[in-house]
Amino acid sequence: MRGQDLVMLPGPVNVTHDVLSAMSTPMFNHRGEKFSVVYRSVKQKVRKVLRSSGEVYFVTGSGTAGNEFAVSNLVAPKEKVAVFTNGFFSDRLRDTFRAYGAEVIEIASQWGAGLDIERFEAVAGEVSLAAAVFNETSTGIVNQIRDMAKIASQHGLLTIVDNVSGVGNRYDMDGWGVDATVTASQKGLGAPPGMAIVVLSDRAREKAKKIPKRSYYFNFDLFEKYAQEDSTPATPAISVMCALDASLQNIMEEGVDNFEERHRVSASALRAGALRCGLELFGDPELASNTVTALKLPGKARAVVKTMLERYGVAVSAGLGKYREDVLRIGHMGSVDVKDIVATLSALELSLKELGIRADGLGEGVSSALQVYSGAPPEKVKSGEPQFSHPFNMKR
Ligand SMILES: Cc1ncc(COP(=O)(O)O)c(C=O)c1O
Repeated sequence: MRGQDLVMLPGPVNVTHDVLSAMSTPMFNHRGEKFSVVYRSVKQKVRKVLRSSGEVYFVTGSGTAGNEFAVSNLVAPKEKVAVFTNGFFSDRLRDTFRAYGAEVIEIASQWGAGLDIERFEAVAGEVSLAAAVFNETSTGIVNQIRDMAKIASQHGLLTIVDNVSGVGNRYDMDGWGVDATVTASQKGLGAPPGMAIVVLSDRAREKAKKIPKRSYYFNFDLFEKYAQEDSTPATPAISVMCALDASLQNIMEEGVDNFEERHRVSASALRAGALRCGLELFGDPELASNTVTALKLPGKARAVVKTMLERYGVAVSAGLGKYREDVLRIGHMGSVDVKDIVATLSALELSLKELGIRADGLGEGVSSALQVYSGAPPEKVKSGEPQFSHPFNMKR
C-alpha cells in the first residue's frame, strides 16, 4: 500500500489540509459582501507577501493568464520593449509580448546564467518598458530584478516581472521599484492552481488606462472598475480564493520574513544534500533559488524522476525544453520543511543507487542536509566537481 505522494514539484505544490478544507466551503454569491470580504483579505495579504502597496487584480486562470493580463494591458502595438531571456519561462514571456504586437529587443543570456544587465544599460534608452522573470523555474535561479529595476527607473521605463514561482525568495516590489508583478496561486502561495494575481503600481495603472484593449477577458478597464468594489468582472474561482485566504493566513501567522527564511534554509539543506551526492547545480550557484533547485543529470533525469515517484512516492520534475532529459528540478516552496527535504533526499539517494548513478555513500546527502538544519556549517563540496564514478560533462 502506498500513502499520499510527497509533492516536491516546481508547482503545483503540496496543499495543507486546512487550505484544502477551505476549498470545500459551499458556494456563495461572488457579487455579494461575503466574496468582497475574501477578496479584501487576500488582497491585503498578497500586498504584504510581495511588499507592495499596489492595486491587486485577480485573474481566474493560471500564471500564464496573469502574464497575458499584464502584457496586454501595458504594451501598445509596435511599442519597443526589452525582454530578458535565460530560460523556458522568459522565452514564453518574450513570446507573449510578440503576440501583442510589441517590438521586442531580446536580452538573452545562457540558460542558467543571470540577466545581462550591461547589455540592458546599453539599450535602455531605446525602449519604454523592461520585463523579466524573477525566479526562472526551468534553471533554478533568481534573476537580478533589483538591478534591472534600478536602471529602468533611471530611464523612466515601466517594469513587468513574472514572479509566478518566486514567492519564498525575498521580493520587494515597492522597494525595488517594480511596476507590475505577476504571481499565481499554486506555487509559493501554497494553494491549488486556478488564480493568477497581478499587482500594479499607480504608474502602471495610469498607463493601462491608455493602452488600446485587445482582449475582452483581460480588459483592464473592467478589472479596474470591479476592483473598486472588491470584485472581478467575470465569475472568479471562488474555491481557490478561499484556499488562498487560508494559505496566506498561514504565511501571515508565520511572518513573511520567517516564511522566506524557512525557504532559504530548506533550499540550502537540499542543495547541500544534493551536492554531497555528487550532483551539480545547473545554474549559477550565486543566483541559486530558494524555491526551485535544478540539478544536472545528463540523460538520466527522466529515469530518476520516474524512480523517485514510482518506488518512493516523491514527485519531482525533469527539465524543460532542450534540457528535458538532462535536468532534475525539485520544488521546495509553500509548506516545505525539514521532513520533506529529508524524505526527498532519501528518495533521491536511493534512486541514484538503484539506477547505478552513485554506488556508495547512502545517507550522506541526508546527513549534509541535517547539518544545515542543525546550524552546523555543511561539509564543503564545491558545485562543479561531480563525484560520480562516471562523470557527466554537460554543455549548457
Ligand atoms: C516562472 C513561471 N512563469 C510562468 C509560468 C506559467 O504558469 P502556469 O503554468 O500557471 O500558467 C510558470 C509555470 O511553471 C513559471 O514557473
